[in-house]
Amino acid sequence: MKRLLPMLAIFTLLLAGCGRDDLSVLRPQGPVAQGQFDLIKLSISIMLVVLLIVFAISAYVLIKFRRRPEHTQMPEQVEGNFKLEIIWTVIPLILVLVLAVPTVKEVFAFGEDHANDKDAIQVKVTSHLYWWEFEYPQYGITTAQDLIIPTNKDIAFELKTEDVIHSFWVPSLSGKMDTNPDGTINRFSFSAPKEGVYRGKCAELCGPSHGFMEFKVKSVSPESFETWKTAIKAPMVAIEDKALAETFKNQCLTCHAVGDQGGVGGPSLTGIGSRESVASILLNSETNDEGNPIVENMKEWLHDPKLVKPGNKMPSPKEDLGLTDAEIDGIAEYLANYKLVY
Ligand code: CUA
Repeated sequence: MKRLLPMLAIFTLLLAGCGRDDLSVLRPQGPVAQGQFDLIKLSISIMLVVLLIVFAISAYVLIKFRRRPEHTQMPEQVEGNFKLEIIWTVIPLILVLVLAVPTVKEVFAFGEDHANDKDAIQVKVTSHLYWWEFEYPQYGITTAQDLIIPTNKDIAFELKTEDVIHSFWVPSLSGKMDTNPDGTINRFSFSAPKEGVYRGKCAELCGPSHGFMEFKVKSVSPESFETWKTAIKAPMVAIEDKALAETFKNQCLTCHAVGDQGGVGGPSLTGIGSRESVASILLNSETNDEGNPIVENMKEWLHDPKLVKPGNKMPSPKEDLGLTDAEIDGIAEYLANYKLVY
């Protein structure tokens, strides 16, 4: 028992992780995830029934036909039984059909191409080593990490990768879909009827920070979505301090876009202060003894990005770009307060 206790503790901790509302396929929050959850339930029920019947028959046979003292002779040898063979071929066949029909239906529905659906919102997803880029071609918007969607709309995804294979997965809204390095584009869609934040994960081992390659799907009311669309397109609000603004422009905007300024390569930083997290894993909602979690997270990230997310491609502002601590803090404050109201 003494030895089992630590095991028990570990499993309790591990299983406690399964209780996360927003990362569980067992708590579907949209029609696609619901359909897939129904399939899981159907297949588990069928398997359970088969398991119970097989175990019951085995137990019955083991007990009923066990060897008794009066059994001195070789029992009767039976070879082949046509009736039985038919039964145990037909029953599994029926079960496979019962499973296959809804599965195939669901799989096709899941992969349905809404690319030409005028009513759907098109989103081009590009995976990068440890972050996600979301482009809305209909609105000319590109953002990162937080995918903002309106409730009850089909979101038609087009997935590709900038580097290695990743997998786009929002457990409570739908199954996984790979992003392929060979240039093929994968499509699927989902919708979220309820407002809320749904956590997404990269579901394909892609490098040292694979486990940190999170993103969020934020489902908002259609009105908020309209406001967001306008807010994110507003011109950049520059840093007040002239010298710092210049540093930011020269060192950060070469790869990052903010509002109408900046370059490409790194994730867009427009409205980063209102995102759910910094660097996908430093959650802005989590309280922090040091005060404002967004500011603290931003500082933690900017002071040593490699420590937060090993193997990521962001140059260290201090070591690689030569920024001073004060400059880094200033930029962190600026970014943390760069919010979009919607
Ligand atoms: Cu990207 Cu795992």
